[in-house]
Amino acid sequence: MVESKIRDPNLHKEGNKKIRWAGSHMPVLQQIREDFEKIQPLKGVRIGACLHVTSETANLMITLKAAGAEVYLAASNPLSTKDDVAASLVVDYGIPVFATHGEDRDSYYDNLERVLAHQPQITLDDGGDLTALAHKEHRTETILGGTEETTTGVIRFRAMERDGVLAYPIIAVNDSKTKYLFDNRYGTGQSTIDGILRATNRLIAGSVFVVSGYGWCGRGIAMRARGMGARVIITEVDPIRALEAVMDGFEVMPIREAARRGDFFVTATGDIHVIDRETLEVMKDGAVLCNAGHFNVEINLEALQNLAEEVERIRPNVEAYRLKDGRTLYLLGEGRLINLVAAEGHPPDVMDLSFANQALAALYIWEHHQELEKKVYTLPPEIDERIARLKLQTLGIEFDELTEEQKHYLSSWEEGT
Ligand code: ADE
Repeated sequence: MVESKIRDPNLHKEGNKKIRWAGSHMPVLQQIREDFEKIQPLKGVRIGACLHVTSETANLMITLKAAGAEVYLAASNPLSTKDDVAASLVVDYGIPVFATHGEDRDSYYDNLERVLAHQPQITLDDGGDLTALAHKEHRTETILGGTEETTTGVIRFRAMERDGVLAYPIIAVNDSKTKYLFDNRYGTGQSTIDGILRATNRLIAGSVFVVSGYGWCGRGIAMRARGMGARVIITEVDPIRALEAVMDGFEVMPIREAARRGDFFVTATGDIHVIDRETLEVMKDGAVLCNAGHFNVEINLEALQNLAEEVERIRPNVEAYRLKDGRTLYLLGEGRLINLVAAEGHPPDVMDLSFANQALAALYIWEHHQELEKKVYTLPPEIDERIARLKLQTLGIEFDELTEEQKHYLSSWEEGT
């Protein structure tokens, strides 16, 4: 068996069924895998990954191995790791994995160290922890480039670029259109609602549902909550986004007002203490709080703890905070990203697009690293379009092309009629 640090290799059979099920709904990645198998474009390239250890991620790892790469995987969140999937990757596919569900902070970082010990040439990150650790420990010398999956990580790396400390180029996979318009919107939209339902078994219809942040994730969550009959309120700090939310038909108001009205609160901003002490102090008795952003910083958990006289876990992902003033607030999934903690993350059909981007970004780095500077890049639009075309093809959907006459019209400026 390959090197690993996992819960139990005997779980591999269940994990393998999940990996195959997910893979059968990831046709674009499947196509890329078949192409990779033929030409082995990443032969011998060492790739270190820090991603959610799910059946969808497993399919990305298998695809990169099919391209000839040596891949090493650690988790990007202790609570999203599926131990059976990790076991199958190790036992059935010979891919080293360092991840166990529910591990503590020390074990989490030890796993990232184990990935770095293999001196990766390419890093794949979700949230930026692996890349940040490589930088902190000055272990970037072998790394030619990296990718980043999520908004939070891209924000971190742009800050590193601005401060002149980024040691290698990063492809912001998150910023491909075939990523954020689909994964962030439809993936987070569906899986966040899925997480809330699995955690609480509560009715969404008729509830007041507060979404903080109207980026692509917030939009998806708001759209799906409305679709289930909730009365949705948006809180925002960006005037353009707030205006968009108004014109999309949502109520927009400051969090301090929304706090008094909400039955459910979901944060999706990527920023700290969006739900702070003053907000917690005026929430209705029985309000449900959760977070869909990458890190568990959006709800001020310390303030919540300080307001409480007792905390009781009443369902696997629900903690009742009984406050000194007699109210009870319910926190889901410890304030960690609810879609991966209480549900299974985004469905494979949409991770197909995100991980097609990851696979092609790894190849892009390998083929272009000599031309890339220590900056944050997006993938070229041709790759984005290729992925969209492939997805449409697998969905059996045909669409139109410009005629020569239309192309000419769009590229000329002399006459308007
Ligand atoms: N991020 C969101 N959903 C995911 C999934 N299913 N697998 C890996 N990363 C994810």
